[in-house]
Amino acid sequence: MATAFKDLTASPIIQAYMRRTPKSAALAKRAQQVFPSGVTHDVRYMRPYGIYVTHAQGSRKWDVDGHEYVDYSGGHGALLLGHCPPAVTEAATRQLSRGTHHGASHELEVEWGERIKSMIPCADRVRFTSSGTEATLLALRLARAFTGRAKVLRFIGHFHGWHDHVAFGVSSHFDGTASTGVLPEIAGNMLMAPPWDIEATRRILEGDDDVAAVIIEPTGATWGQVPVAPGFLEALRQITRQRDVVLIFDEVVTGFRCGPGGLQGALGITPDLASLGKIVAGGVPGAALVGRADILNRLDHRAAASGDFEKILHHGTYNANPIACAAGIVALDMVRTTDVCRKAIDYGRGLQDALDDVFREEGVNWIAYGTYGGFHVFLNPNDIRTSRDEIESGSFDRETLCPPLAPGLIMKIRAGCLLHGVDIQPWPGGPVSAVHTDEDRHLTAEAFRQTIRMLKEEGDL
Ligand SMILES: Cc1ncc(COP(=O)(O)O)c(C=O)c1O
Repeated sequence: MATAFKDLTASPIIQAYMRRTPKSAALAKRAQQVFPSGVTHDVRYMRPYGIYVTHAQGSRKWDVDGHEYVDYSGGHGALLLGHCPPAVTEAATRQLSRGTHHGASHELEVEWGERIKSMIPCADRVRFTSSGTEATLLALRLARAFTGRAKVLRFIGHFHGWHDHVAFGVSSHFDGTASTGVLPEIAGNMLMAPPWDIEATRRILEGDDDVAAVIIEPTGATWGQVPVAPGFLEALRQITRQRDVVLIFDEVVTGFRCGPGGLQGALGITPDLASLGKIVAGGVPGAALVGRADILNRLDHRAAASGDFEKILHHGTYNANPIACAAGIVALDMVRTTDVCRKAIDYGRGLQDALDDVFREEGVNWIAYGTYGGFHVFLNPNDIRTSRDEIESGSFDRETLCPPLAPGLIMKIRAGCLLHGVDIQPWPGGPVSAVHTDEDRHLTAEAFRQTIRMLKEEGDL
C-alpha cells in the first residue's frame, strides 16, 4: 500500500492535480486531524485528496480553488434534478422557517406518503426512515418477523448500505464470511448468491426452508455496474412467490431514476417490499420502506394488539422530518409530471456514445455502458472482445466486469478528469441528472480524451 501511494505522488497527473488544488490540499490536511482518512463517507476517499466544494448549481459545482466542474457525483445519486432545483429549494427554504421538527404528525408527511403510494406499484404502505441503510435494515427485520424465518439471500457485490447484515460480500468477503466487526452469527444467516446465475440462486432457495427474504439491487450491483440478465428478476419473482419468500427490491438508487414507478414500474415486476432513498427526498436526508400492507402491518400498533404477532420496534428522530417532506413532495411531483427521468436516461446514453467515440479514436479498449440515468466505464484490463450490448445483457460476472486494476489507475483517472473540469465517481462512472447539457457531454468526453493521453504518456495505457 505504501509503495502504491509513493508511486501515485510521483505521477505527473497527480502532481498537476496537486499544483491546481492547494486550498483543497490545505483543507484535506486539517481534515486528516479530525476524520479517519480525512473523509466522511468511504466513497469520498481519494488519493492524494479530493476536492473541497464551495457551492453547486444545476449540473456544475465549484471548488475552494475556484475551479468549475461538471458534476457526476449528483449527491451520491440523489440529485436527479441537478443541484438546487428552484422549486425544491424554495419549498425546503419555506419550510425551514415553519419548523424543522414538529415532534408530531403533520400534513406534509401524509402528502409525501400519498405521492409515493400512488407512484410505486408495491407501495400499499409506507414507513419513512432517514437513510437507505435504515430502510434495508427495516426491510430485513420485517421480512424475518413476517415469515418467522431467519435467513436472507443476498447477491454477491450488491450494495444495501452499511448495517451489519449487508456489510460484507460487497467489496470483499464474497464468500459470505463476516467482515471485521460483524458477528459471525449474523453473517451465518445471510446467504450469498451469484446474480448472474439464476439456477444457482434457485438451488440455494430450494435447498433451504429457512429463508425469509431475498434482497437485490434490481438493475445489478452498484447501480447496474454488473447488470442482471433479462429474465432474472422475473424468475426470482416466481421462485420467491412459490416459496413464500419476501422479495425486496432495493430501489434506493433506481427508485425515481428508472422511471416514476422505479424499476418495478418500468419492468412491471412487483416485489413485496422496496427500499427508497436519495431522489425520494429531493436531495435532503430522507428515505422510506414501502410494500405489502400485511408485511408493514407488523409495525401497526392496533394490528399487533388485535392480532397474534408482536409489534416491530421502529423509531427514528428524523423520520418524515418536514424539510424532507417539503423537498420530497416537489421532487416527486416533477418526476411524476415531467420527463426528468427520460431526460437523464437519454443524457446518460448520449454520454456513453460520446465516450465510446473518444475511446475508439484514442485507441483504448474501454467501453461505456449503463441503462438507467448514469454511466459506467469498463476499463477492460484483460482485453476482452465484447460490446456495450453484451455487457448490458448481464452476460458477465463480477470478476469480469470489476477486475483488479493497476494500483492507482482509478485515482489517476479521477485526477485527470478533475484537471479537465469533470468530477466522476470511482467505479469509474457516475449518475447523471435531467439538467446535464450537450456542453457538459462534450466537456466530459474531452476530459476523458485528455486523461487517456496523459495516462499514455505515463505508460499506464
Ligand atoms: C442500492 C443502495 N442501497 C442502499 C444504500 C444506502 O443508502 P444510504 O446511503 O442513504 O444509507 C445505497 C447508498 O448508496 C444504495 O446505493
